[in-house]
Amino acid sequence: MTEPLILGIESSCDETGVGIVRGAEMLANAVASSVEEHVRFGGVVPEVASRAHLEAMVPTLEQAYEEAGIRVQDVDAIAVTCGPGLTGALLVGIAAAKALALAHNKPLYGINHLVAHVAVDQLEHGRFTEPVAALLVSGGHTSLLMVNDITDDVRLIGETIDDAAGEAFDKVARLLGLPYPGGPHIDRIAHDGDPKAIAFPRALTGGRDMDKHRYDFSFSGLKSAVARHVQHEDRMKREISVADVAASFQDAVCDVLTKKTMAACNAEGAKTLIIGGGVAANGRLRHFVETEALRHGITVRVPRPGLCTDNGAMVAALGAELVRRGRKPSALDLPADSSMPVTQVYAA
Ligand code: KG4
Ligand code: ZN
Repeated sequence: MTEPLILGIESSCDETGVGIVRGAEMLANAVASSVEEHVRFGGVVPEVASRAHLEAMVPTLEQAYEEAGIRVQDVDAIAVTCGPGLTGALLVGIAAAKALALAHNKPLYGINHLVAHVAVDQLEHGRFTEPVAALLVSGGHTSLLMVNDITDDVRLIGETIDDAAGEAFDKVARLLGLPYPGGPHIDRIAHDGDPKAIAFPRALTGGRDMDKHRYDFSFSGLKSAVARHVQHEDRMKREISVADVAASFQDAVCDVLTKKTMAACNAEGAKTLIIGGGVAANGRLRHFVETEALRHGITVRVPRPGLCTDNGAMVAALGAELVRRGRKPSALDLPADSSMPVTQVYAA
């Protein structure tokens, strides 16, 4: 049997993505981002994102067909993110996918955005053999997953109990007067700083916290600690070193992410770790994880930046696995589910 040809649509946050894959091969990955429209608000504004999806959806679809050299009639199935994400934003992608599925009589798969972040790695590094562990770190999520079967057995091992990792980068960047999104700026500026200059807290890493939150994360206290440091230096009429603060903050985040992820891999016996989400681009995080993984005999797979951030190819990649493994399509009346649990791979 030839590999299934899948169209994937993503619209859960601020990227309108349309991807086309054949099995584990990517044919197109068209993305329109509304990030510029959110800059002056310092974060994604749901209503602005929804309107941008509406405007971008048809042109992005057309761009993807052209890139792949196919017509929508040719695809075997249509996959769309149905959660988690911003409801209004999700609805735009879902409406487009339903219309295409109905008009062209194609099976429809409403898939889980987080699981798609794991599946996308196959487009870069070829098929993986489960079990694999996954660390998803972006502006919206910080989740540690154990994947035994990417189509029907995904467990949530840990997650943030407050801010997402990328959100912490963005908020701290704002405190330091850096533009949004702040992650790449902190990453760059931290190169010139001393990561040991300020001892910022590593939350949920000791004592009783470890009983209840062994693999969970918390970044809001860290953000407050940075704010207090900045205020304190200000009161003392001392100039802060932005590079030192950035480097010390970044190490606090990456240190905890790495230690907890490695501990989970070891406890669960996972020999492969996939990292996804915008924060996967962080140089320090990759350095920490790769160094530790080497010590523990774990293979780390990080898709290239364009596949780590939200895109349609990741949705198509998971859709292709569902079709390949003979999973039944979703119903045509599938709803958006803003808080879809990661244990639900798709809307069956
Ligand atoms: O996956 P993504 O593009 O969008 C979602 O949030 O879904 O991730 C964006 C996040 C932002 O918070 C951004 O600051 C962060 O990823 N980010 C980084 C880096 N590049 C992007 N954080 C740290 N270091 C980076 N190099
Ligand atoms: Zn995402």
